Amino acid sequence: MMATHAPASPYDLQRDKLARYFDGTAQKAWIDLTSDAKVSGIRATVRAGRDRMRATLLEWLPADLRRKRLHDAGCGTGALSVDAACRGGEVVATDVAGGLVAIARKRAPSFLGHGKIDWRTGDMLDERLGRFDHIVAMDSLIHYRENDLVATLETLGARCSTSIIFTFAPYTPMLGAMHRVGKLFPRGNRSPAIVPVSEESLRRRLARLRGWRVARSVRIASGFYTSNAMELVRT
Ligand SMILES: C[S@@+](CC[C@H](N)C(=O)[O-])C[C@H]1O[C@@H](n2cnc3c(N)ncnc32)[C@H](O)[C@@H]1O
Repeated sequence: MMATHAPASPYDLQRDKLARYFDGTAQKAWIDLTSDAKVSGIRATVRAGRDRMRATLLEWLPADLRRKRLHDAGCGTGALSVDAACRGGEVVATDVAGGLVAIARKRAPSFLGHGKIDWRTGDMLDERLGRFDHIVAMDSLIHYRENDLVATLETLGARCSTSIIFTFAPYTPMLGAMHRVGKLFPRGNRSPAIVPVSEESLRRRLARLRGWRVARSVRIASGFYTSNAMELVRT
């Protein structure tokens, strides 16, 4: 008898596409962008914006993370995980792109003081990861549709006691137009589109998330990089 499989959800399809992209065509560019390697002027603006974003998210976390369990959801090459572990955090760093996790593991210093990092290849929604005090998702949910973004935050929220800090790609007329034009062209598996989300609509939906409220929100724009940090805290 043939086995029946549940059809893959839009979230699953997008996650698998992102894993192929970040472990394939994008890997070299991503490794360079997240290092001190010389990059083009455009990429330098993206690197500067991302540095500001990482600093902002880290500032929203307690300065002392000792005895705190933190999930770096979609950790990429691991810079935020290392900074959080250096503050004493017990970090679980997950990414579906195993190649990036391998780089992150190699880049991380061997001495992290009181902190430690458990590097994992896999889906950030894997319930075996357990419960956390804080969850951070920097630019790892920007490729998901608004429905999947909200559903992901809801699932992560059920496993988190204190704060969830994430970024989304804010809808601006320019990003919206680029997204619409992008859809006219066949993309194959080259670069999964960033999905712009309206802050107003996101806030309306997150207001219905039980046990959480939106706290800080900051938009960071630097050349070709625009991303919005948002913080959810327990009510
Ligand atoms: C734009 S990169 C950002 C990486 C890192 N957070 C940073 O800011 O340097 C997005 C990352 O999210 C990962 N990702 C996307 N969806 C994921 C999922 N469902 N579970 C785990 N990782 C995911 C991708 O593989 C990719 O490495």
